[in-house]
Amino acid sequence: MRAATPASDTPAMPTRSEMQFARIAETVAGGESSYSRLRAGGQLVMEEAAGARIRDADGATYLDYCGGYGVNLFGHAPPFLLDAVRDVVDRIGVHVAYPHRLAGEVGELVVSLVPGIEQLRYAASGTEATQAAVRLVRAATGRDLILKFEGHYHGWADHLCTGLGDGSASRPARPDSLGVPAAALEAVWVLPFNDLAALRSAIAEAGERLAGVILEPAAGSGGLMRPTPAFLDALLAEVRAAGGLVILDEVMTGFRLAPGGAQELLGVTPDVTVLGKIVGGGFGLAAFGGSRELMRLEAENRVVHGGTTSGSPVALAASRAVLTRLHGEPELYEGLEATSASLADGLERAFADAGVAGHVRRVGSMLQPFFSERPDAEPGSLAEVAALQDDGLFLAFCDALEARGVIGHRYPLGRWFVSLAHTPADVEETVAAVGDALRWLAEGSASG
Ligand SMILES: Cc1ncc(COP(=O)(O)O)c(C=O)c1O
Repeated sequence: MRAATPASDTPAMPTRSEMQFARIAETVAGGESSYSRLRAGGQLVMEEAAGARIRDADGATYLDYCGGYGVNLFGHAPPFLLDAVRDVVDRIGVHVAYPHRLAGEVGELVVSLVPGIEQLRYAASGTEATQAAVRLVRAATGRDLILKFEGHYHGWADHLCTGLGDGSASRPARPDSLGVPAAALEAVWVLPFNDLAALRSAIAEAGERLAGVILEPAAGSGGLMRPTPAFLDALLAEVRAAGGLVILDEVMTGFRLAPGGAQELLGVTPDVTVLGKIVGGGFGLAAFGGSRELMRLEAENRVVHGGTTSGSPVALAASRAVLTRLHGEPELYEGLEATSASLADGLERAFADAGVAGHVRRVGSMLQPFFSERPDAEPGSLAEVAALQDDGLFLAFCDALEARGVIGHRYPLGRWFVSLAHTPADVEETVAAVGDALRWLAEGSASG
C-alpha cells in the first residue's frame, strides 16, 4: 500500500478511482445512492478497509474519519463482528422472516442499555425508524402536529424532509426537496433551536393539535448544536404538559456518546427513542422504542409498521456482537473519549501553529474543525453555528487533507467520527497531516 500524495498543479491522467467512478455514474445517478454523499470534484472509489484505514482503487491508503457515516464504532471490518455474522449465515442463511432468538437477545441488550426503551421494534434504516416513531406518537395522542428544529436531520422521508437550512423555521414546514408535497408537511412545524420563546409560542398556538416534538441531542448535521439544559428541561416539561410526547432521535448519538446514548449523559428519558447506525454494526438495522404502554399500539397492530427485512437475523447478529461488547466493556468509552479529546487538542494546536483561525467543536467522538476563532459563548442556533464555518476554506482543507491521506465527511456543518480503532499513533499522523494541510492553505491564501 502506498500513502496518498499531495495533488500537483499539472493536469494528470485520470486515476483508477476517477475512471471507476465515471463508470459507476453511468448507471448510478450521480455515482452515489445517498444525496448526502454526493460531492463535487474528484471521487474516491474504495477497494479495501480495515480498522481506521481504507484503501482506494489506486492503492492509496487513508485514515478515515467518515467511519461508514458513523456505523463503525469499532472501525472497519472488526473480526469479532464478521465472525458473528458468518456464524448466523452458515446456520440460517440471510433472511427467514420468522422470529429468531437473536431478536430477543438484541432487545434485551438494548433495553438494559438505553433508559428510554422498555420495548422496541426493528426497522431497516434510521429514516424508517423516525417515520415509525412519528406515526406512533401521532397514534398515541390522537393528534397530528409534530415540532422539529432547524438543522436537525431525521432522514429523508417526506414528512421530515424539512428544516435543514438556516432560516428554514416556518409553520407549516417548507419542503427541503423537489417532489415533497406541501401537504406532507402541513402537520409539521420547524422551530429555531434553543429558542424557548418560539417553542412556547408554538405549543400555545398548536393547542390540542400538538402530538409531539422530535429532536437530536446533538445535531450531527447541524454543526453539533446541543440543547441548553434550560431549553431541554423546559421542552420535556412543557411539551408533556400540553399533552405531547418527546421523540429523541439517537440514530447518530446512540451507543456512540455512552452505552445508553446521549439520554444517559443528559439524564433525560424521552417518550420514544430512535436508534440506527451503530446498533446494526453496518448492516441495515435501526430501532424505535419506548414504554411498554406506548408500544402496546405496535404489539396490538393498531399502528402500521412493517418491512420485509426489518430485524433480519444477519443484522441482529452484528448488533448482538456490538452491543454485547458495549454492555460488557463500558470502559471502552473512556478510551474513545481520550482519543477524541487528544485529536481535538492536536487539531487546535495545528490551527494555532499554522496561524490559521480555527477551532474544533466536539461532542464525544463526533468532532468538526471550524474555520474561525472559538466564540466566547456556545452557539445555540443554526444561524450562530453556521456563522462559525467558512465553507470554502473547509472544503479546500478537505481536499488538501485527502491528498495527505486523511478523509472525513465533507459537509461543512457535519462531523468526523472517531472510532475505537483509531490509535494514538493515528492521532499523531492525523495532526501532522492537518498541520501540513493548514500550512499549505495559509501559504496559498497569503500568495493568492
Ligand atoms: C440523527 C439522524 N436521524 C436519522 C437519520 C437517517 O438514518 P438513515 O440514513 O439510516 O436513514 C440519520 C442519518 O444520518 C441521522 O443522523
